[in-house]
Formats: sequence, C-alpha cells, structure tokens
Amino acid sequence: MTLKRSPLLTFLLAAVLLVGTLVSVSGLVATRFFQQAILERESQLVNELASSLLAEPAEGEAPLTAGFLDKQLHHLLALDDILRINVFSAEKYLLWSSESDIIGRRARNDAPLGRALSGEVVPVTQPFQRASHRDWNPKADVMEVYVPIRSAGDSQPLGAMGIYRDAGQINQTLTRGAMLIWGSAGLVGVLLIAIITTLHGMLLHRHRAALASLGSLDEKHRRIVQLEKMSALGKMVGEVAHQVNSPLVGVVNKAQLAARRLDDPERIRGYLRDIEAAGKHCAEFVKRLLDLSRVSRFEKESVDLKRVVQEAVQLVSQGSGLGGVIALALPAHEARVDADPVLLRHALFNLLRNATAASPADESVTVSLFFSATQHCWCIDVEDQGPGVPESLREQIFQPFFTTSRDGNGLGLAVASTVATLHGGTLEVMDGDEGGALFRLAIEASPTAVGPRS
Ligand SMILES: Nc1ncnc2c1ncn2[C@@H]1O[C@H](COP(=O)(O)OP(=O)(O)O)[C@@H](O)[C@H]1O
Ligand SMILES: [Mg+2]
Repeated sequence: MTLKRSPLLTFLLAAVLLVGTLVSVSGLVATRFFQQAILERESQLVNELASSLLAEPAEGEAPLTAGFLDKQLHHLLALDDILRINVFSAEKYLLWSSESDIIGRRARNDAPLGRALSGEVVPVTQPFQRASHRDWNPKADVMEVYVPIRSAGDSQPLGAMGIYRDAGQINQTLTRGAMLIWGSAGLVGVLLIAIITTLHGMLLHRHRAALASLGSLDEKHRRIVQLEKMSALGKMVGEVAHQVNSPLVGVVNKAQLAARRLDDPERIRGYLRDIEAAGKHCAEFVKRLLDLSRVSRFEKESVDLKRVVQEAVQLVSQGSGLGGVIALALPAHEARVDADPVLLRHALFNLLRNATAASPADESVTVSLFFSATQHCWCIDVEDQGPGVPESLREQIFQPFFTTSRDGNGLGLAVASTVATLHGGTLEVMDGDEGGALFRLAIEASPTAVGPRS
C-alpha cells in the first residue's frame, strides 16, 4: 500500500527536519562552548591558587622540598572539595603527595602531566577512566587539574601539581547549563516551525484566493463574449429582417390595392412595377449577404497585386462611370504575394466604391501600391478628396451594418477588414494629405520576400 502525502504534510516534515537539524547543531556547539568556558574558569582558579602558594619560598628555602610543600599545601587540603594533591618533579617523579605511601613513584605515561610540565593548565574531567588511576576509586564525581609550578622569574616549570577535586558542584552547574541551552534551543525550534508553517499557510491561502479570482474573471470574460456574440447576432438578424420586411410590406399593400382595382389595368401595371422594384431590392440585399458569406471561402495562390488593383479599378469604373478620376500609382517592380485574388479584389472594390461616393464628382481618387520594408508587408492606399472620417466614428465604421448612407448596408468595410485579417494584415483609416479619408489595406508579404526586386 502506498501512502499518499498531502503537500502540507510534506512541507511540515521538511520544516521539522530542517529546523531539528539546525537546533541540534547549534545546541551541541553552545553546550560544548559552555562546558569549555566553565572548565577553563575552574582550572584558572586552581592555577592562581597553586601559584600563590608555591611560587615564593622564603629566603634561602628550596622551592619543592618536602618541608615547604607540607607547609604550603596543607591549607589547600583543608578545603572540603580537595580530595588529593600530587606534586611531580620535571622528570615526572612524585615529590610529594597527600597519600604519603605513593611518594617517590614515577608517573605512568600521562599526557596531561606532560602538557602541564611544558607550561599548560590542563583540566581532566574523567580521570578514573585512565589506566594510571585504576588503583583509586572514590565514590564522588572527581575532576583533576594539572598546573605547572614555576619559581618567580623562571619561565620553565620546575614541576607540576595534580589536584583532584570533588566535581559534584561543577557537574551540577554544567548539567543545569546544558538543560537551559537545550531547553531554549527546543523552544526556538518550535517557534521557528510555528512561524514557517503560519507563513506557508498564509501564502497557500493567498495563492488559492488568486486562483479563485482568476477563475471567476475567466468566467466573467466568457459570459461577456457570449453576450457580445448574442447581441451581434441579434443586431444582424434585426437588420436582415428590417431590410427584407419593409419591401415585403410594400408588396403586400400593393397586391391588396391591385386586387381592389382589377378594372383599372393602368393602375395595376403601376402596382406591379412597384412590386417588381421591391423584389429587386430584396434580391440585391440577399446578394450582398451572400457576398459576406463568401468571405469564409479563402484560397491562396501566387497573385500579381498590380493586376488585382487594376481589375478592381475597372470594376468600379464600369459600375459608376467614374473610372476617369481614379489615379493609379503602381510600382515598377513586380508585386507578387500569396493571396486570394477574388477576396482582395472584392475588398478593394468596396474601398474604391466608398471613396468615389465620398469624393466630389470632379475630384480624383488615388490608389497607390507599395512595399513597406519596415513592416514587411504590401500596402494599398485608397485616398479620396471627400470630408474624411471623423475621429469618433473610426472604430464603428468597421462594424457590420454600420452605415451613414441612406442606401448603404454597412457591410463594405466589415468585409474588407475581414479580408485583410485573413491575409495576416490590417485595414486602417487615417487622414489623407488633402483632407479626405485614406484607407490603408496592408497584407503580409511572403516570408521569403526581402523586398521588391527592382
Ligand atoms: N471614404 C470614406 N469617406 C468618408 N466616410 C466613409 C468612407 N468610407 C466609409 N465611410 C463611412 O463608413 C461607413 C461604413 O462604410 P461601409 O461599411 O462601406 O458601408 P456603407 O458604404 O454601406 O455605408 C459609411 O457609411 C461612411 O459613414
Ligand atoms: Mg460601402
């Protein structure tokens, strides 16, 4: 069976492990340091005491004679916690001892004694664990301190003294100190874990709150898009219904009138002409709607843009008889792109028809085709001499069914802009040099095109 751990549990385990290690290491170091400090202080006290007693023999007295040592050290031995005192010569022979039967023995291989003879103060906490002390086993906790013995002015020790003390009190201090250190380290550890866990909890909470608010934003956005789609659809259906309904109402009215005037063929002919006109209007509107749906068929091929522009101009001229005032500015070099020529021609046709409609009859519309190296695209500018497009309308005019003209349907720019997008480009409106409107249809150049060949 595998145990599944929650992220919080894993985090807690890691935190406890990390903090535990940290606390243990710092506790150990602090305890060691504390023990060392206490032992050093105790040893120095013993050292000072020994130097004051042994350093200055009376005038003419040898420093380490039995008589001098007896006289000086019995004060020390009178102290409660001093258990035994040994005085060694520089050659490690026992010159004097509180246990008189061992005087004259040579110390066994004893490193702390060696260090004291070379001038160090050496505390030994567990002296009875050493082979040299197996013959004496007092019940109490014992600590031994070796101190060098120097005569005044002499730097080299004459000998060394080993003092055995009852270590009960020192050990108590050490135990209390260690308990205090470990207690505080544990407390700090628990506090640290609590702080880390709280911080982690807070972060987790914020993260979840951020995720939740992102989720609700997403949901809001989805609803707004859906609403927009529905309202666009509603607008479109309303527009279609309106465009078809008005002529249909006319048709029904005229048909009813005609039925009442069966005796008047002239009137009936008039009504029939109106009915025919309304039918044609409907047919024209449906044809334009079909144009719009045609945009969804998109087939690319290698296209000569100069030709597409010329064909679109021709189409507009045939329709409006305005061909004479459309001025063309085409590049001398080849302008070839991968595009759908039918859609491009249709988009350009829409722009040209708007431009010729906006321009006064005697002013010309200019169409220029050029390559923009900075944007790596082909641009077709259609500039007219009309009133231009006011700033406030510059976004709306691209929306389907937006029109300011009485017999417009508001689809021309919507279609042209979709065609631009299909070709990886844009359709923008700006001010022309001569105050009219300038529509720029930009389409993506093929990736390999590094610019027109001249
Ligand atoms: N060259 C132009 N100059 C000024 N206004 C223009 C020009 N072209 C388009 N417009 C504005 O944009 C609107 C939408 O154009 P379009 O989508 O072609 O629909 P429509 O031509 O049926 O009105 C026009 O009604 C007109 O207000
Ligand atoms: Mg138009």
